[in-house]
Amino acid sequence: MGVGLLSIGKYVPEHVLTNADLEKRMDTSDEWIRTRTGIEERRIADNCTDTSDMAYEAAKEAIEKAGIEPEQIGMILVATVTPDQPFPSVSTMLQARLGAKNAAAMDISAACAGFMYGVVTAKHFVEAGTHDYVLVVGVEKLSKITDWKDRNTAVLFGDGAGAGIVGKVSGDRGILAFELGADGTGGEHLYQDRYLKMNGREVFKFAVRQMGQSAVNVIEKAGLSKEDVDFLIPHQANIRIMEASRERLELPPEKMSKSVHKYGNTSAASIPISLHDDIEEGRVKDDDILVLVGFGGGLTWGGICMRWGK
Ligand code: UT7
Repeated sequence: MGVGLLSIGKYVPEHVLTNADLEKRMDTSDEWIRTRTGIEERRIADNCTDTSDMAYEAAKEAIEKAGIEPEQIGMILVATVTPDQPFPSVSTMLQARLGAKNAAAMDISAACAGFMYGVVTAKHFVEAGTHDYVLVVGVEKLSKITDWKDRNTAVLFGDGAGAGIVGKVSGDRGILAFELGADGTGGEHLYQDRYLKMNGREVFKFAVRQMGQSAVNVIEKAGLSKEDVDFLIPHQANIRIMEASRERLELPPEKMSKSVHKYGNTSAASIPISLHDDIEEGRVKDDDILVLVGFGGGLTWGGICMRWGK
């Protein structure tokens, strides 16, 4: 028996902020944003909705879809760089709200690669036999650390949450290989003081190099080749970065997950949100070979190759 994702849940706020809305607020254009990033609109949470509220909604869907009860969850891992407050953690808030009284809980800070770090950590606890089910959430309310006067960053990000239940899966399904990495010497390129600050060009170069390489590495580690890959789910940061990884794997456009146009960059939430829509809309099916790759501030990165299905 392998270990894999049993289900995926998602939550995005209702409020849609379009490129046209941003044109009214700052010196930018729909044309610039679309051609440089692929983003058309993003979701922004209201003042009454914090990170833990979005995490709760996504987690509820993941738990329901996995067909388990909150009491069966042994651990909750929440990947976020925008918690409600430094402590208590979002994961403990979630534990209380879900009634997951048997779960240990901690947050993970690995920026946009956070969901990958969470799933890989969860896999080891399940494999070790310590927990049957681990809830992993990637969630961000980036709008609260966005400098709305900085057009270099304000147009890029969105709010949202994605969640998954990691547990035992049947046959040869589940996580086949993974890679996690970090390069702390690049921390200066993407960080938060009051607001999020970014050296876009440096992050862009790192992302193109690292996402493609991680994808290739996990495919090799799984003993597979590029031709075996059915679907690529890259971190939804920028369509140009995503396309570079797709081309590295020589996959046609329809074999890549794409939701950046609808939600912008939702950091730790982007991979599970995108995968959620791929499952719901029939692009990902049981026994498909999936490659998930992410990168983010730290700098951090992570890749997973898995055979989908329970
Ligand atoms: O999850 C990880 C987080 N970060 C990322 O993934 C971001 C990675 N980087 C990127 O996606 C890209 O570097 C950006 C989308 C941020 C920028 O694209 P670029 O093609 O690298 O543009 P650039 O930085 O070379 O800037 C080109 C020009 C600049 O003007 P000058 O200096 O050439 O006159 C910018 O001032 O575009 C200008 N610019 C804008 N213009 C209109 C920057 N932001 C905007 C904007 N609207 N919003």
